[in-house]
Amino acid sequence: MVVTPWQVSGDVDYDQLIQRFGTQPISEEILNRIKRHSGELHPQLRRRVFFSHRDLDYILDEYEKGREFILYTGRGPSGPVHLGHLVPWTFTKHLQDVFGARLFFQITEDESLLIREGFDEDTVRYWASENALDLMTLGFDPENTEIIANIRHVHKLYETALKVARKTTASTAKAIFGFGDDSNIGIIFFPAMQAAPCFLASDRSGEAVPCLVPAGIDQDPYWRMTRDIARKLGYPKPAQIHCRLLPGLKGDAKMSASQPETAINTIDAPEVAARKLLDAFTGGRPTVKEQRELGGDPSICTIYAYNYFLFEEDDERLADLEQECRSGTIICGECKARLAEVVKRFLIDFQKRRERTREVLDQFLLE
Ligand code: TRP
Repeated sequence: MVVTPWQVSGDVDYDQLIQRFGTQPISEEILNRIKRHSGELHPQLRRRVFFSHRDLDYILDEYEKGREFILYTGRGPSGPVHLGHLVPWTFTKHLQDVFGARLFFQITEDESLLIREGFDEDTVRYWASENALDLMTLGFDPENTEIIANIRHVHKLYETALKVARKTTASTAKAIFGFGDDSNIGIIFFPAMQAAPCFLASDRSGEAVPCLVPAGIDQDPYWRMTRDIARKLGYPKPAQIHCRLLPGLKGDAKMSASQPETAINTIDAPEVAARKLLDAFTGGRPTVKEQRELGGDPSICTIYAYNYFLFEEDDERLADLEQECRSGTIICGECKARLAEVVKRFLIDFQKRRERTREVLDQFLLE
């Protein structure tokens, strides 16, 4: 398997990533602590979609002592937002609601420009605005959310990024990110920009403000670098909570905005999204007869994954679905059609709210 910020492929073994990246599994004890603040656990925690962390206990310690912490996550504006992005974002919204934490959301216009061939400033600027729209449509508290688009708002981050850059050698960056002599020098500096929001609240207030980053596990290399720097610069080390990656519709490890048939975008016409689901890879058998006799395999099924990650919040109904699949009671056609209906309804509603959000978008992107 390959899991880096820019490439995810193969069969992702999440337990092995915990070992490889040196993170912690989320223990029952931590879940119980969270539960005391949130009431019932969020489905993504109950189901271990968020499965790994660093220093989450420290964040809870601070919160329980009455100190504030900030949330930080982000997006590379390389195209439309797809359902995979909504996994960490909806969870981040939940954390903001429960803990009242301020969110920094970074849109890495610079990163997209530096790593994507054929992207120009106008294209990244366009996607940055469109992606910000998706974010705010999820209902983040506008008073408690700051979007930082790296080109537009570079003045907010540059000083902090320079502090990070001064303490990071090329050999560290090469070892962590695999940069080579053919990498452009912009992308070699870029990790300092992605690190900067972890320290921004501390720099602004002059006090140590802890930071929690909810994000896909593929972003972890950034945080390994950033934690090392934090120690050198005297900031609190940023904590992480990592999620699994929503598989692509063809069964690939991760949805990809650059392969449109593998992902459902928030701006897809609902009928187009439904068709993608009807063509999706499942855990079904080659024939209906075999499926009735032998049952399907939800553990490799993308339709089941979508229910598990996002669309079936009720644990009992999810367990029923799994059982119906394994026993051959339900076959793939029905199951796909069911999800297609749910996703269509979701998109119709989301797109309506998204257009309304457009009217207030400037409020979040100016400054
Ligand atoms: N590098 C991320 C991407 O390509 C964008 C990003 C910036 C991010 N800051 C972040 C993601 C913080 C998660 C958390 O999508």
